[in-house]
This record gives sequence, structure tokens and C-alpha cells, in this order.
Amino acid sequence: MGAVRVPERQRSAREPARRPPPIDESAWRRIVRDVRDELRTREPFPPGPKDLDLRRTLQMVRDPLPILLECYERYGPVFSTRIMHGVNVWALGPEANHQILVSDARNFLWREGSFGDLIPLLGDGLLTIDGAYHRRVRRIMLPAFHREQIAGAADTMVAEASAALDRWRPGETVDVYHWARNLAMRIAMRALLGLDPDDGDTGRRAAHEFERALSFYGTDFALRVLRGPGSPWSRLVAARAELDRILYAEIRRRRARGEVGEGDILGMLLAATDEDGSTLTDEEVRDQAMTLMFAGHDTSTSTITFLLHELAHHPHELAALHVEQDELLGGGPPAIEHLAGGLPRLEMALDETLRLYPPAWIGPRRAVAACEIAGVRVPANAYVNYSSWASHRLPDVFPEPEAFLPERFAPERKAALPKGAYVPFGGGSRTCIGMRFGQMEIRAVATLLLQRYRLEALPGRTMSVRQMPTLSPRGGLRMTVRERGTGAAPA
Ligand code: HEM
Repeated sequence: MGAVRVPERQRSAREPARRPPPIDESAWRRIVRDVRDELRTREPFPPGPKDLDLRRTLQMVRDPLPILLECYERYGPVFSTRIMHGVNVWALGPEANHQILVSDARNFLWREGSFGDLIPLLGDGLLTIDGAYHRRVRRIMLPAFHREQIAGAADTMVAEASAALDRWRPGETVDVYHWARNLAMRIAMRALLGLDPDDGDTGRRAAHEFERALSFYGTDFALRVLRGPGSPWSRLVAARAELDRILYAEIRRRRARGEVGEGDILGMLLAATDEDGSTLTDEEVRDQAMTLMFAGHDTSTSTITFLLHELAHHPHELAALHVEQDELLGGGPPAIEHLAGGLPRLEMALDETLRLYPPAWIGPRRAVAACEIAGVRVPANAYVNYSSWASHRLPDVFPEPEAFLPERFAPERKAALPKGAYVPFGGGSRTCIGMRFGQMEIRAVATLLLQRYRLEALPGRTMSVRQMPTLSPRGGLRMTVRERGTGAAPA
């Protein structure tokens, strides 16, 4: 593996932990800068299709997985593709993932990567910052995500999931994706922000505005660069203003009443201190709260949906989960230890779902200095992406990559996977901070649902996957609700 020479400003232990300067919100200026940077690059990019090709660009935007796997076959783990105006370097497989996430992580910045258009909504949240400032904020936030703190959210998850399931009737058809999305939003409002999801002025309003803001990232790139009245951008800005109003009002209300350090994640962020006693300002708390909402929402929703989709097509796996539930829960509600990973069969099914459909499928970065990734030279300033989705489908790492085979995550087999092979939650100093929260939510919803119902795929319907900004079933996922039935596997 080639050593990376990271410039002094990246290496210094005394690098100030300051908020980064604001980004330029003009998409056009960014395009011009990218083109200029590429023209100035002296070192060659890794091999791959780098010509301007509208068809490939459209396919990359709509369905990138086949192109990424084809390029891996043809060029190896590190290759380039031109998407839109710019060259992107892709780095797939265990060695490249480990290098970007762990061993050379400081050479790869998130903020400068290709997902910069999230910054106008998220601000300087954990996801979009790097270096000393990232380390400081992460240190302050980590205690809020410790096991005991997350356990406090379990009651909310169980109560909300049970209430949402009470409304189902056997025989009816539900869009499971939209159902899970509403449920996850209610859980986030209560457990992350402490807002009442039924209050039209706060929780319900915030949920509505948040979805409106997110819809910007699902629109075509060509429309996203437009500005002015009626554009998707103007809707994003209006939704952001409304969200800011609600969030700042809540932050100030709690500070004024001294309601900090308790109940929900927002309360913990308001009270959290660094080693030197410093705390997060109101703006910092706002940016972190918005980031947690964003990073946790569609990821948990999609994972629940993909798990239910796979179980509907693998009745033996479903039956095995029923047997496990009968043995370990005996018809009662799941306790905290079950929701913390104490249902091993469910755990394997969940791991396999996250292998096939890791919702945060791309890790966008920019190389600070020229480097070698898995033995391939990459120029300074290159946009570099790792991709869990493509990495999890490499046949040399996961045989029969398209098959849903939970037993590949039996504990001893999972432990034997090479470093960097399985990265649904990223890795290293940027490992998903909400991993425990998300896993607990998915386990709670899946367990309660499978105890009461069985979901049946609609005949003749196939699922296709949309990938912007995270993986989700394109157009939702309609399924028929049935009684759970017995735990016996079909013949
Ligand atoms: C199934 C659920 C989830 C999955 C698969 C997932 C996946 C990921 C991945 C892959 C990353 C790293 C991205 C990168 O390397 O560029 C990440 C980061 C992050 N996630 Fe999650 N996530 C999930 C749930 C959540 C939840 C529930 C929250 C919040 C409550 C959350 C908050 C975050 C944050 C703040 C980061 C940035 C961490 C940092 O850079 O220090 N995630 N997540």
C-alpha cells in the first residue's frame, strides 16, 4: 500500500478545531471550479471510461451498480468514470475501503467530496466536516450515543411501532416503505428532538418541512442547479427556514428552562461538554440535529423495507425468524436485551439485508494529496468514492453475491471477513454514530411486525432500487398484510 504524504495543515495535532468557512452555494460556480481543477491536474487518473458520454452519465445517475461492477471486472478495484462534467475515482473492495476509512482516512475529506450540496441543509454537521473540528464535535457527541442512552429510546420505538401496527388489517395492501418512513419520522421527532409528532406547530410541521427539504435531493441534477422562484432550490430554502424556526425555538426554550441533558438526543447535545468544558453553540446544535435527522431517516426506513421484501421472497428465513421469536420471546414483547442484538437469527438477516442494500451506498470524498489506493495512483484533488453497495457485491469477496443468504453472517463467518469487506456503517473515525440507534429501531419494528403479521409480495411485481440520495425501493413497496400464521417452514 503506498504511503500518503498528507500536507502539514492536515497533520498538525494543533490544527484549530474551528468551524469550516461557509461553502459557495452556487452549483454553476462549483462546476466551473471542477473543470478548472481537472484541467490543472498533471497526474493521470486511474483507468476507466473518462470520455464525455451522456448515456453513461444517465445510467450512472439512474442505475450505477452494473457499471461499477463491470468497471471492477475490467479495470480492477480502483478506476475512473466521467459523470456529468467531472471525473470520479471509484475505490472498491476490502483493501481500498480500509485505506479510505481507516489507514489513510486523513487524506480523504468529506466536505470537499461530491455530496457538497447537502451542506445548505445540514450545515456543518458531523457528516460534512473534517479534521480537528470533526474530531472535537464527535468527541462531544459520542456520549449521547452510548448503549445506555440509546436504550432510553427503545420505549419510544416500541410504542410507536406497536401503534402503527395496530392500524393494519389482514388482507389489506400497504405501501411498506411509506409506512416505515412515517413511523421512522415519528420516532425521530420524539427520540431525537423531543417534539410531539402530532403537534401541528412543532413535530408534525417539522416532519412535513423535513420531507419537503429532502425531496430536493431526489430531483434530477439538471433541475437542482436551477435557482429562482418555483425552483426545487427555492423550495429547499423555504423548508430550511421553517425547520430553523422550529429548531431554534426549541433550543432556546430548553436553554431558558434549563431542560438540558435529559430525555432525548437534543437534550444531551445541549448539555454535552468537551474535555476543556466547552459546549456546542445553538448553531452547532442545530446543524448536528439536522444532520442526525437526515442521516438516520431514510437509512433505517429503507433497511426495514428491504428486509421485509427479502423475507417475503425467502419463506424459510421467515420461518426461522418465527421459530426464534417463539423460543426467545414466547409471545411477549421484546426486552431491551433482545433489541440490543439478542435475536441472533434476526441479526444475520439484518446483516445480509445491509450487505445487499446498504442505504448509504456511497462514501463521497476528495483526496487532499496524490496517493496510491490499493496500488493505483490517484492524483491530488480527485473526487474519490468508496461504495459499500458495489463492494458488497464483489463475487471474489461474497460468493453468489446476488443471493440472500443470512448464514454468511453467522458469527464465526462474519468475524472471518477481511477488514474493509463489509462496511454498511462506514468505518474508522467516521463510523456511523447512529448505528446503535438505527439497529435498535430496525430490530424493534421488524420484531413487533413479524410477531403479528406476514407480508406477502404482490404477484408479478418486481422491486427496483433508487439510489439518490440513499438506496430505497423505487416508487415505494406495496405488500399484502396477512396473519402471521405458524412458525413452520413451507414444504
Ligand atoms: C441502518 C441505518 C444506518 C445506516 C446503514 C447508516 C450508514 C452510515 C454510513 C455508511 C455512514 C458513513 C458515511 C461515510 O463514510 O461517508 C454514516 C455516518 C453517519 N450516520 Fe449513519 N446510518 C444509519 C443510521 C443512522 C442513524 C439512525 C443516525 C442518527 C441517529 C445516523 C447518523 C449518522 C451520522 C451523524 C454520521 C456521520 C458520522 C461522522 O462522520 O462522524 N445514522 N452512517
